[in-house]
Amino acid sequence: MMTRIVLYGFMGVGKSVVGKILAEKLRFDFVDTDKEIEKKAGIPIHLLFERFGEAEFRTLERNIVEITSSKDRVVITCGGGTILDPVNVQRLKRGSLMVLLTAEPEIILERVNKDQSIRPLLSASDRLNRIKSLMSSRLDKYLEPANLIIDTSNITPEDAARKIFEKILGGKPWTS
Ligand code: S3P
Repeated sequence: MMTRIVLYGFMGVGKSVVGKILAEKLRFDFVDTDKEIEKKAGIPIHLLFERFGEAEFRTLERNIVEITSSKDRVVITCGGGTILDPVNVQRLKRGSLMVLLTAEPEIILERVNKDQSIRPLLSASDRLNRIKSLMSSRLDKYLEPANLIIDTSNITPEDAARKIFEKILGGKPWTS
């Protein structure tokens, strides 16, 4: 049985919500790379971008991936850009189930507009177009390491978590 599950994909696909549910069901630890970065830096990600730039954020991200990717019995959720770095991919995919979550750009827009957290990479005047172009530029890199792909556009986070759970545990019942 896989004991390390990595959830990744674009902003707003539901990684953190799905990851928390899944970790609870599996009785695994839950680690969110963005949260770990914020803990280490002592400031929210958008301030990290603002004060030190994206490159500094990516360096911290890489360090956090190095630490968390060796853990066991863990669900790891990554930021939307984590998997664009080949070193991160190499570290994360070793012995892990790599789950790509996707969603339609319009759905993503709806979700990120509702969400409180400030996303520096989406601070454009035409957010939908920004989402579409960023997403298509990342598509190949997202698809490459995926063992499982789940479109979360029209399903609940619980349903998405259940699909992953079933993939890992086969027949074992999921109790809501
Ligand atoms: C980023 C996604 C964000 C966060 C940072 C950069 C990206 O995480 O890591 O703002 O490059 O797509 P979420 O995907 O959790 O929003």
